[in-house]
Amino acid sequence: MTTTTSLAGSKKAFASSILEGLEKHPKQLSSKYFYDKKGDRLFQEIMHMPEYYLTDCEYEIFDRQQQAILEHIGQDEAFELIELGAGDGLKTKVLLRQFVDQNIDFQYRPVDISSSVLEQLSQSLATELPNLEVAPLHGEYFQVLGELKEIGDHQKKVIFFLGANIGNLTKTQSRHFLSQLNDLLDPGDMVLLGIDLKKDPATILAAYNDPAGITAAFNLNLLERINNELGGQFELNQFKHWEAYNPVSGEAKSYIVSKKTQDVRIEALETSIHFDAWEAIEVELSQKYSIEEVDQLAKSANFKVVHNFFDSRHYFVDSLWVKGVKEVT
Ligand code: AVI
Repeated sequence: MTTTTSLAGSKKAFASSILEGLEKHPKQLSSKYFYDKKGDRLFQEIMHMPEYYLTDCEYEIFDRQQQAILEHIGQDEAFELIELGAGDGLKTKVLLRQFVDQNIDFQYRPVDISSSVLEQLSQSLATELPNLEVAPLHGEYFQVLGELKEIGDHQKKVIFFLGANIGNLTKTQSRHFLSQLNDLLDPGDMVLLGIDLKKDPATILAAYNDPAGITAAFNLNLLERINNELGGQFELNQFKHWEAYNPVSGEAKSYIVSKKTQDVRIEALETSIHFDAWEAIEVELSQKYSIEEVDQLAKSANFKVVHNFFDSRHYFVDSLWVKGVKEVT
């Protein structure tokens, strides 16, 4: 497949997913579309905001508990550290440095759908950690893990899925995702999962509703993407960002709300979308868990919790799991 046809293919997939989402009741668009160039930059800004505690918490866990994490992973056997959605690797580098300094026998394998992300990460690692063995894997998470399984790679694997990315899936989707992951692993393989915990609802709301409006710009950028890529005619100032947190379910949800009755033309979809005044589009779920729910999640996907690493405020957990040997009945 040429790059042009695959680009056309991904634009087509984007267009049909947007149409499907805007025809739903209630309207619903996937937060995976937040991340174009501008979205990536805004997300970097979010991670540096004082209100967005998640990044600081996970950084603190890695910074203060690196030795304990290494001990629980185990140092007797060589392993592949496979990171799903590595991004700029800021937090992971803390651990990687420690592992390299201790001459641990491992290989770092960042997985990403974006080859430019992988290239940038590999370049920064080559200068910052020249002794680290880096072998990037380009593609979708399960495609890449499936390929490793197919070629008979049975080296111990430690999968990192950090930054509360699992929270952008519903609980049902998470169980499914983690069970699929379990199927692609061998007994003894491990998972380190970064999960945001239930806490004071005010703290959670503030993280997704900053006064500087960075999160609002991040969410509304989705409409800008539709304008730029699909010939949409959304007037951004006629929509607003709204955040709600349900402390029972642990769901923090982001919405884009139409401030008035309006019809918005989207050229590439050859249609106009009608909005009632104050009608909302659901755009993101950021699921929060209690520690009991983390336990249940591990069990439901056939993993055993090895250890929970908390930050000092117990806002966040990096939960280390192992795939057990199947019991024969
Ligand atoms: C990427 N993901 C874990 C972030 C979250 O917290 O759900 C995305 C985000 N949305 C608004 N702020 C950050």
